[in-house]
This record gives sequence, C-alpha cells and structure tokens, in this order.
Amino acid sequence: MSATIVSDLLDWFDRTKREMPWRLSRDPYAIWVSEVMLQQTRVDTVRPYWERFMERFPSVRALAEAPLDDLYKVWEGLGYYRRARNLQTAARQIVDRHGGQLPADASALEALAGVGPYTAGAVASMAFGLAKPALDGNAVRVASRLYEVGGEVSSARVRAELEARIRALLAEGPASGRPGELNQALMELGATVCSPQSPRCEACPVGGECLARQGGDPARLPQRRKKAPAPFAEIAVALCVEGQSVLVARRPDGGLLAGMMGFPAAVLEAGESPAEGSVRALAAVGLRGEPIGPFRSYPFVFSSLRSVHRVILVRRSGGEPAGEAFFADRRALDALALPAAMAPIRDALTDARDWRVLSARTGKPAPAVAGDLVLSEAAVG
Ligand code: ADE
Repeated sequence: MSATIVSDLLDWFDRTKREMPWRLSRDPYAIWVSEVMLQQTRVDTVRPYWERFMERFPSVRALAEAPLDDLYKVWEGLGYYRRARNLQTAARQIVDRHGGQLPADASALEALAGVGPYTAGAVASMAFGLAKPALDGNAVRVASRLYEVGGEVSSARVRAELEARIRALLAEGPASGRPGELNQALMELGATVCSPQSPRCEACPVGGECLARQGGDPARLPQRRKKAPAPFAEIAVALCVEGQSVLVARRPDGGLLAGMMGFPAAVLEAGESPAEGSVRALAAVGLRGEPIGPFRSYPFVFSSLRSVHRVILVRRSGGEPAGEAFFADRRALDALALPAAMAPIRDALTDARDWRVLSARTGKPAPAVAGDLVLSEAAVG
C-alpha cells in the first residue's frame, strides 16, 4: 500500500506541480535560500525576492561577504529578518567549515545557523537526493490525516511518528532517486488540496488511502492546542525632524528588529507615557529632547508581539547622535532597509502633504527646495 501511495503522489506531482524558479535549479545554495524564504511566507511572495537575492548574491561566498545593509535591503518587506541574518551567519560557517560548498549531510546542515530539521531535510533531499523527511506545516497536515495520527501535533511523540511514516514512504521503491520530489509532493498537496478547514478529498491522489477521510472528518486533524495570544506592548517612537532630515539609528543587536536601522524606539515600561518613552528612546542614541506632541499611532503585529506604535514628535534640545545614529535626508529613506513596522512613518515623511503638516508642527518649517515643490504640486494635484 505504501508503494501505491508513493507512486500516486509522484504521478500527481509530475502532472500538477506549480512552476517555481528554484525547482529548475540543482544548486544546493539556491535551494537552501528558497527554503529559508518559504518559511512562514507564501510561494507567490517569495518568487521575486528569490530572483533578486540570487542575482545580488549568486553564491555562498557572495552572501558571506555582503554588507548586512545590502542583505537587509534585498530582504526588505519579506519580514522575519532574523532569517536573513542567520543565512549570512550560515554562509560564513559554510565557507569556514565546508570550503564554501553546502555539505551533503543532514547533520552537518542542521549544525548551521537557522537550519532546523525541516530545512536540513529539504536541502538534503532536494539538492542531494538523500532520503530525509522534510515536514513543513503542510506536509504535517497531510501525513497526520493520511495515517490518522492524533495527539498534540507539536509534541515530540507525534513528530516522531510522522517522521517515521515519511521515512517509510521514502524507503519505498518508487521514491528511490526522488526523495526531494516526494517531500515536495506532500507539501504541495497540503498547500493546494489538503487544506486546513475544507480539504478537497475528491481531488486528492491518495484520498482512497487516507485513514482520516475514511473516519469521516479529516479536518479535525492535526490537533493543536489553542495558542495563547501573543503578548501586547506599546512602542514609543521618537520622530525627530530637523530641516529635511530625520533621526535614524541602528537598533541594538538583541531583541525586536535586532541590528536594523529605524527611528529611535522603546517598548513602554509600566506607567510610562509615550512622551516619556520617546525621550528615553532619544537618550539611548545620545540626544536630549522635548516631546512636541503625538504624531500618529498605528498597530503592528510582529511574530512574537502585538503592538501599537505611538509616534511622538520630538525636538532636540542637546547632544549629538551617538554610535550608528544620524540625521538622514527624508527623501533618501528608501535607500535604508527600514523594517515594515516603521513603514507608516517612512511613508508619512516621504509623502508631500504629510510632510508639510509634520514640518509645520516642528516649529521650524523646513525651507522649501526645488524637489519638494514638485512633490507637493503632484500630491495636491
Ligand atoms: N514549501 C516549502 N518548500 C516547498 C517546496 N519546495 N515545494 C512546495 N512547497 C514548499
């Protein structure tokens, strides 16, 4: 029965697989980059990012040697920036440990920064033809239904059982030489047919073998404990504008948006007002300041935190930007890889109408310059 499942899955995959540019590549580096981008991100979103990334950093060595800001710039908008930093750390490890070639070994892959069992299995199977399972969320759903595996899906016991099931499939004759395609078939089936709420069992190539379908309610699997909602925080952002320039700073190495450029910001402490938080954020980059007033507030959901950003206009009363803080021309902000959480502020600074309101409120309206005039007229129509 397992051999039938394998050949049905592979036949289905051959007939219906979606076109993805990395599927045309045999380069382990290209496949690894695609798999990291695909974590938590949809295929259609990843496509153009992967193409730009491969053009800009065509090899492990190019990535290892890239300035972090260039990397962030190419990653901008994809989110989960830790993935980009881990990719570069791992690229350096590959240069140091493996002479710049990805190792054809799942344990050595898993020893790299940011590479867990999923990514190691994906690269091992797709790039090197090794019979290793690669269970992403979609494949987990398919396998838990096909074999009717109950129990909390993130538990070690359920994980181990699902992996053992997939290992058994990979050992079947029709899978030999095609482990990467079998893994991708399982993922693809989860992404396109075996959906979380309403699986299209009638369109499933292995619907006839599916134990959960025979049980009558496949959508009840996999079982998940209800997640507690992510914690909530208010984030004060200090918006310090002088002339046509605005204060930006590199964020500390740990914590939220680690190492990225942004407007000075601080998570509010208990009892602290946004104005106080903005002064504290300013002090952390070497400036004394006075709050002028709120500019705007907006919600933003990080992977680990729900937030409201409270943007406070501040005026510098002393000090000079310290460390990697500086006043950047507001019209050149697009060149900085600002995180999505700060995009609403960048947009207000680059929009002519918003900018006029904002600069008037700083008490020192910026002198008009030629570029501005064109912008304002275009925006006002
Ligand atoms: N999800 C992550 N990697 C994938 C792949 N190679 N094919 C289909 N879905 C995926």
